[in-house]
Order: sequence, then C-alpha cells, then structure tokens
Amino acid sequence: MKNTILLLFTFSICSVTWSQGNKKSEIDAKVSELLSKMTLEEKVGQMTQITVTIFEDPKKPGYFDPAKLKQGIQDYHIGSILNVPNPGAPTIQRWQETLTAIINEANKTRLKIPVLYGIDAIHGASYTAGATLFPQQIGLAATFNTDLVKRGAEISAYETRASSIPWVFSPDLDFPRNPAWSRMWESFGEDAYLSSKMAVALVDGFEGKNVGSKYSVASCMKHYIGYGSTYTGKDRTPSIIPERLLRQYDLTIYEAAIKAGAKSVMVSSGEINGTPVHASKHLITDILKNELGFTGVVVTDWKDIIYLHTRHKVAETKRDAVRIAIMAGIDMSMVPEEFSFYTDLVDLVQKGEVPMSRIDDAVARILRMKFELDLFQNTVANLKDYPKFGSAEHIQEAYKTAAESITLLKNNNAVLPLNKNEKILVTGATANSMKYLNGGWSYTWQGDKSDTYAADKFTILEAFQNKIGKENILYTPGADLEIENEAEIQKAVDLAKNASKIVLCLGEKNYTETPGDISNLFMSSSQIKLALALSKLNKPIILVLNEGRPRLISDFEDKMNAVIQCYLPGNEGARALVDIIYGDVNPSGRLPYNYPRYPNSLEKYNRKYTESISEGEQNDDAKYEKSYLPQYEFGTGLSYTTFTYSNLKIDKSEINSNDEINVSVEVTNSGKKAGKESILLYLSDNFASITPEFKTLKRFEKISLEPNETKTVKFTLNQKDLQFVNEDLKWISEKGTFTLQISNLKKDFVLK
Ligand code: BGC
Repeated sequence: MKNTILLLFTFSICSVTWSQGNKKSEIDAKVSELLSKMTLEEKVGQMTQITVTIFEDPKKPGYFDPAKLKQGIQDYHIGSILNVPNPGAPTIQRWQETLTAIINEANKTRLKIPVLYGIDAIHGASYTAGATLFPQQIGLAATFNTDLVKRGAEISAYETRASSIPWVFSPDLDFPRNPAWSRMWESFGEDAYLSSKMAVALVDGFEGKNVGSKYSVASCMKHYIGYGSTYTGKDRTPSIIPERLLRQYDLTIYEAAIKAGAKSVMVSSGEINGTPVHASKHLITDILKNELGFTGVVVTDWKDIIYLHTRHKVAETKRDAVRIAIMAGIDMSMVPEEFSFYTDLVDLVQKGEVPMSRIDDAVARILRMKFELDLFQNTVANLKDYPKFGSAEHIQEAYKTAAESITLLKNNNAVLPLNKNEKILVTGATANSMKYLNGGWSYTWQGDKSDTYAADKFTILEAFQNKIGKENILYTPGADLEIENEAEIQKAVDLAKNASKIVLCLGEKNYTETPGDISNLFMSSSQIKLALALSKLNKPIILVLNEGRPRLISDFEDKMNAVIQCYLPGNEGARALVDIIYGDVNPSGRLPYNYPRYPNSLEKYNRKYTESISEGEQNDDAKYEKSYLPQYEFGTGLSYTTFTYSNLKIDKSEINSNDEINVSVEVTNSGKKAGKESILLYLSDNFASITPEFKTLKRFEKISLEPNETKTVKFTLNQKDLQFVNEDLKWISEKGTFTLQISNLKKDFVLK
C-alpha cells in the first residue's frame, strides 16, 4: 500500500514537473513564433512603458482621450502601462472600464499583443477604492509569520486581479543600511535572512502555483540593488557597497525570490560605487541574468534612463542614456511620460549601436511574461469572480496580520493591558487620522487621501471610543506633527488631569520616496515637547509609535511606562492596536531592526565586535562613547505572558563540511495567558578570516502556546549557514568553533 502511495506521489510530482516543463516549452515556442513576426518598431514598443495619466483627457481626469490612447498603442506600439489614473484609487468597476479601453485598443493592432498593466499594490491592492489594506512591509516582517504574510499576498493578488491588473511592483527587497531612509518601511528591515523568507512568502502568495490564474499576479522584486543603502539616508543618493557585502547580504534576498519564481525585477534608481545601477552591465547582465539565471523581465524605475543623462550625468544625451541602459541589460523602460525612449532605441538599432539580439532577448522576456500571465486569453476581470473583494474574510486577515505585527517594546510594572473601566486621555498628532496608519502608497502616491478613501475605517481614537465608549475617552490632538503649539500642549495637560492614564500617539506624516527625506532622525520637537509636558504629571503614559522608521525617542523614553510600535499597520491597524492595549489580543510582534538611541550610533544587531567597547579598552582617564546600546534591539517584542526556554540540544558537537546539524529547544508558556512566540536562532562564527559578526539570525519559527503548554521546536542548519563571502567573493566556511543561541541558551559546535 505504502509503495503504491509512494508511486502515485512520485508519479504526480513527475507529471506536475513534466506539465510545467511542457508548458514552458509551449510558451517558448509561442514567443519565438510571435517574435519572428514582429517589426523593429513593434519590438521596441513592447519595451516601452508609459504612465496612464498621459493618455487622460485633461478636461475629464481619470478618463482617456481616445486619440492619445490610440497614438500610444497604435503608433508607438507600447507594451506596458502603469500607475493610477487621476485623482487616485478607482473602484474595481472603473478599473474594469479603464482596462477594457486599453484592451480594445490593443486588439486593433496588427499582432494584437496585450498591454501589460503594472501597479504599486504594495500592501494590498492599495490603488483600488474599497480594497483590503494590510500593514506595510516593515510590519509584515515584524510578524515573523511567513504563513500569514503569504496569505496576505494571496489576498492582495486576488484584489489586484479583481481590479483587472495582472502585475504588482512588489515585494520590496531593499536592504536599508541607514534607518533614516524614507523607504525603510517598504522593506523587511535590517536582516537579510528575515527579508529572504518574507520575500519568498510574498512571491509565493502573489504568483501562486499558476501565475496565469485569475487570482494570481506577477510579482516584481525591487529595487535591484543597493537602493536602500545610501550613506546619507536620503532617497536616491549614492551608496558605497563593496561587492563582498553586496553578495553576503543584498544579493541573497534576490536569490531567494528568484528561486521562488519571481517574474520580474525593477532596477534601483541609485548608484553604487559611482555607477548608476541602470548603467551597470556587471550588476544586471553579469550577475542578475547570467550568474543568478534570472529569466524574467528587468524594468527600470520611474524615468531612470532619462536620469542617466539629467541626474547621474553618465550619458551626454538622452539617446546615449538609452544605449547605455539597454546594453547594461534593461528590458523595459518606465519612460514614462513621453516617447523619446522609443524613438531613440529604434534609431540606435537601425544605426547598429544596439544589436538586434539584445532587443530580441528583452522582447522575448516580456512576451514570455505576457503568455505566462495568460494575457492573450484573459481579458478584464469578470467581477462576479471576485465576491471576496474587500470582504469581511479578507479584512479579518488584514486585522490578524496587524495584530501579529504590533510590537510591545516596553511594559514597566505591567501597566498594560489597561483596565476597560478607567478613563483615559488619548492624545498626539497621529491619534486621529487614517493617513498615518496607512502611510504612503495608499490610494495615492504619498497616501494623503486615506481619510477620504478609508472614511469607514477606524482611527486610533475611534477604535478606543468603540472599545470602551466615548464617555471614557478624553481627546485632544496635543501637538501637530511639525508646528509647535504651546496652547494645544496645555490643553492636553489640562485634560490629562481628569484621566488615570495617557495614551500618547506619536509618529510621522504619510510619505514615500524623496518627499519623505529628513535631516533629523529625532521625533519632531513639537511632539517631544508634548511628551515631556505630559510626563510632568506623573501619570502612566503609554507611548504608541506610528511611524515608518525609528524616530529617536531617547529624549523622553525613560519617562514612558509602556511603548508600543505599530509601524504603518494599515486600515485594520487601530482595531488591532486597541485590542492589544486592552489585552484582548496578546502581542507577538518582534522588531525587525535595531531602534537606535542616538543619531551617531546606528549599529545593526549583527554588528562587528569592534563596534562596541571591548574588555580592557576603557581606561580610567578617558570616557568612551563607543558603545552598542540601541534603544531596543532587533527581535525585541514583549508579551503579556512569559515564555521559558529549556533543553537546547544539538545532535552533533563536531561536524564535517557536509554535515547538517539538528537543533531542538523546548519552549514553555510559563505565564497565565495564551500567546504566540517567535523563536529566533542566531549563530556566531567565533573566529574567521573576515571579521565575524557578533551574531546572525539563521532560523525562526512562530508558535502558539496555551498556559503551561510546552512545545519542542526543531531546526536544521546546513553548511551554507556556516559560510560567509571571502575576499575572493566566494562563499566559504572555515574550521573552528561556532556558537548557536536561542533566547539566552547557547551551544557550541566545531567544524572540523
Ligand atoms: C518608485 C517605485 C515604483 C515606481 C512606479 C518609483 O518612483 O521608486 O517603487 O514602483 O515609481 O510607481
């Protein structure tokens, strides 16, 4: 019987692989056939991506001027359109009409090649009115729960397809090295392993088993590569990243997502070591396409070929910028506001400056993606196929994700959970707006219209009022995000006198990209002043952080009794937050980055030993400020129950270079409340020829435990886990002792 089952199993795996292989060669054949029929102009058109708004009728925002659409699709043969029509976030019905107009126009062309529509659906179908909005990516990372994250991506895919759109510009695989960066929250935080696991969960969720299904979308990894690593922390400023480090960290995240099948990649607008990534044949063709074997579409970021000329100044003309980028390996240009790319590239090929083979490679990749997405068959969404769009079921998943992301950083004297019978003051600039909960890329680029589009959702204040009744909540904003206002502070102080506890909501405005640049990482002074004024009352203060990046709070943190980080938790975030504050949900998020204490101490958790003072270094006449003392460390996350770790075991204390190591640990809920716990396994290579990291995350798993329940959690480490990239850019391991750590338990083993 067992053998029969095994046989059947093997047969079904083989037939899946066979049918996948078969489908691939079928698609390849279709691509070659179509390519052979195409003119140079049609091919270059496929490589051209234009923003939807340039086809609009200025007198009727959101609606096409038919002549303009005809010109784009018929005359320039454009292969792709992106972005959201004015004034932002159409309904699924409006999206259906928009895509129908595009498809009808494409069907009038000679070869009827469908136009590929791409969208920034980055936390749900975030450019569609009524869609389910999830926490932003930094919050997804904080859940440490890849199943939940994958489910969220499936919902996002479903609701994006319900909007008739088959391609999302997500996941963001940036690896921020400076926490001030305005897109920190679009990333998975500071750890490459956590980012890789989350990247795979998103790609799997978006693309499913069949990317061509009406419930899946093609993903687009972005922004390849090194974008998040500017040393100023300002958007689109230079990075300096030795290739050794690029390979050790950044590239591993892309590698994982490519293995998971990611169909496309968007290139970074930045420069690394003086070369704009859009101009780097080494990074795009040699490493991404040849070494990693990426067979999908490489698209530029917004206007980035033109910027090679106007901003980066590596090309003397726009035309030369096109040559440089295409020869570096770009397949599609997000031009996106005019047609110079098309005209220049046609001319470059005609004059022999770009070979037809490069064009054919690019177009084959684009056509392959269109066939895989089944765009030649699939027309617009039949709205009847999407009954769950914006449904209670989807909203519940977004709520669960927010609830598992929100991170309790401090809870002195168990001030939380609060008692539902006490009167509280809710105050702070972020307490009463959906804009701050959603952040950027929500309905509009900067996310400034969340209060209109998500008017039926609850702000933090409203969620409190729903929970314990308006009569128990005192409220005043207390501060503006930027403008100082003593009278408003005084109002909050006066009101606080009638409350037993204060919930202080601080954070940041909604932003993304360059508009989010800051020169000062501290929380704004208008908000610090409010915190300090309230702290003088000697009433317990619960600080709620609602921010995309860790704004420094060391000026007043010691005066806060509890601190909760809710990141940018999306439309359901306030309900989840308030449920946590009252103990109806036990918090289980963990911080996916080091929260710095000082602006000149931005060490990561996987720091080198030289980043803090070592034994014997401090002498009596000198006071050293060299210290590793983040406000909160990566992985911090408290619960209302306690978890006890015991019996850490490894199955070998000596291993050879091919062995795996099996690790187990027992985790007990030793408190009184059911709870979830993410178990994090760190490894340290004690001595190595490249200075070793203090510790590195190698595995994690989230489990649920009832009070008094114990679970054994098992991990297997392999040789790759022991390796690092050496000076010759090779992954190697070296003999010696390694220390494995889970919670405060440690075990050593030796690699012989
Ligand atoms: C951003 C990308 C985004 C693209 C398309 C760019 O400005 O950097 O992340 O996908 O615009 O909207």
